[in-house]
Amino acid sequence: MSKLDQPLTLPCGVAIKNRLAKASMTEGLADPYLRATDRHARLYARWADGGTGLLLTGNVMVDRRHLERPGNVAIEDRLGVRQLEAWAKAGTTNNTQLWMQINHPGRQTPKFVTRAPVSASDVELKLSGMFAQPRALKEPEIEDIIDRFGFVARIARETGFTGVQIHAAHGYLLSQFLSPLTNIRQDQYGGNLKARAKLLLDIVRNVRSKVGSAFPVSVKLNSADFQKGGFSAEDCTRVVGWLVEEGIDLLEISGGSYEQPKMFDMAGDSRKHDDPLTASTTRREAYFLDYARQIRKICPIPLLVTGGFRTRAAMDSALQENACDLIGLARPYCVATDLAEQMLTGVMTETPRMEKALRLGRWRVLGPQSPFQMIKMINGFGQQAWFCEQIKRLADGQEADMKMGLLSALRTFQANEKAAAKAIQILAR
Ligand SMILES: Cc1cc2nc3c(=O)[nH]c(=O)nc-3n(C[C@H](O)[C@H](O)[C@H](O)COP(=O)(O)O)c2cc1C
Repeated sequence: MSKLDQPLTLPCGVAIKNRLAKASMTEGLADPYLRATDRHARLYARWADGGTGLLLTGNVMVDRRHLERPGNVAIEDRLGVRQLEAWAKAGTTNNTQLWMQINHPGRQTPKFVTRAPVSASDVELKLSGMFAQPRALKEPEIEDIIDRFGFVARIARETGFTGVQIHAAHGYLLSQFLSPLTNIRQDQYGGNLKARAKLLLDIVRNVRSKVGSAFPVSVKLNSADFQKGGFSAEDCTRVVGWLVEEGIDLLEISGGSYEQPKMFDMAGDSRKHDDPLTASTTRREAYFLDYARQIRKICPIPLLVTGGFRTRAAMDSALQENACDLIGLARPYCVATDLAEQMLTGVMTETPRMEKALRLGRWRVLGPQSPFQMIKMINGFGQQAWFCEQIKRLADGQEADMKMGLLSALRTFQANEKAAAKAIQILAR
């Protein structure tokens, strides 16, 4: 019997109606004041209508000066609360859990958005000159960031979101603090792993104090960064132990960063790449399940695994063997908003195939596993742009366009991002 349609009760007492979660996807739909818009509400109404138990929002920023991309929602005050309420109302219909993902990008913010990024230390993200040199945060600024996460969590609760998730994965600020490659601080936030995890743990504690014990608090964490000398699988296991002690309600496992985009099953610079677990047969489909099995041994709290799930058989089997409690999917939701309902009723046994649309050309050498770094990068950024453009279509009430080309998506995306960044900057002056 499938566990997919069974409810899950979290430690805080809240129940999720089934085992399918739409993982976070940055929407890029905010207005130039970085407030949510009608498009958020329309998009999440569709996803909620589609039968998924848990919807995680795209990352919402805690600081207007530091964005992951120009269309991010950022919350610093109570302006924009009405729009958040509309978004929450739409996303919680159909007894759906809607959790706000909260983030600070740190150094992982494009140059055209932030010319003066901050990070744990002044270690630059070297990727085709797209990112500016960061400066190390001072201790009072770190305390301010802890407050900001708490404030955004409180606003999320007040405006009707039913939970929050702290983003500590994918190379953003909290990941930067966790990794010894990007955190070379010598104060209380740097040095050994416990010190590198202090910012994350302080944030979890502050968020909990702002939302109370009956409200779901989740963390998204990398199983590893897959960078030689970086945040390792062993580090992850130890951090999970501390998160369990903090009493979080759900741990989401992913992996990678812009440098090693393993969350998309892509690898970056092979000289810096590190992947200690050899690929198993399930690996092609569920990228982090092998890691989740290890984490599970020491993690009594509910576990969500995201990355690569595409068939109902693999989802059923992951739940059946108790490797995780929830299945996270992201990209398939950009082309099928009713994916959960279809999977749960057995109408769909496999998510729609997108591979053809998602490569530069017919030959293998032009695909995402190309031996040429430049082609790999165009495929990577092109795919990301393709999904972002599909999200905009859904938010506008249209259907996904499976015939959209990778390069045309990339061109449209880049032009829109630059225009949006300019609009924000004009308003900020
Ligand atoms: C367009 C797009 C935007 C994303 N934005 C976020 C985000 O805001 N926060 C996050 O934690 N992950 C983000 N992700 C990563 C997904 O949550 C997920 O980890 C990844 O896509 C792997 O899952 P999948 O194979 O089911 O797509 C994004 C992915 C895509 C495709």
